Amino acid sequence: MVIAIDGPAGAGKSTVARMAAETLGFTYLDSGAMYRCVALTCLEWGADPEQSGEATSTAESIEISFEDEEVLVDGVPVTDEIRSAEVSEAASRVAVHPGVRAAMVTEQRRLIEAGDYIAEGRDIGTVVSPESPLKVFLTASAEVRARRRAEQTGGDPREILISQMERDKRDSEREHGALMAADDAIEVDTSELSLDQVVTKVAELARERGIA
Ligand code: DC
Repeated sequence: MVIAIDGPAGAGKSTVARMAAETLGFTYLDSGAMYRCVALTCLEWGADPEQSGEATSTAESIEISFEDEEVLVDGVPVTDEIRSAEVSEAASRVAVHPGVRAAMVTEQRRLIEAGDYIAEGRDIGTVVSPESPLKVFLTASAEVRARRRAEQTGGDPREILISQMERDKRDSEREHGALMAADDAIEVDTSELSLDQVVTKVAELARERGIA
């Protein structure tokens, strides 16, 4: 069973999904980390993230796994490397290719069918798990999202805002698996809410629906 949490970068998905999973006793799946693994591997192997064929064969050749707090590619931990600005940029480029998305969606479905998951991403409620009994779409204003990222990374909020707008545009406009709320998703604007408030809201929704 899957609770889907989708939304743009910086809306608080990762922290909310991680904390709500802990509260409800579910396993957390960070689907964005998987696109980041493909991007990192492209950069390491000299494959062009813009090239559909090169990115797709990279995605199909690697094994991505999660162990405790670590993300691994072919058994090697890459947890920190996949968070760099260069990988963020390349991830939003590899994520436009249908072949890359098909490989990731297959793998995500294989993972989540084995248990109770809170899966977080852009297309969980629309593509990966449209039958999910609870879909939450988290949003926040672009400025709030850039400020949160800057606080996390120590970067310049203005520069972050500009690159975030470019990535949002690519995520929203791509033809396959575009960032959008499912018709039956519950939209939660986190701009004025604390993390605890958002986690409580997700847990309440899950309990209301008899999921947890
Ligand atoms: O959530 P994130 O910033 O770690 O995601 C990294 C990139 O992967 C981002 O550009 C959007 C893309 N992504 C996607 O296309 N589909 C998902 N389900 C998750 C992430």
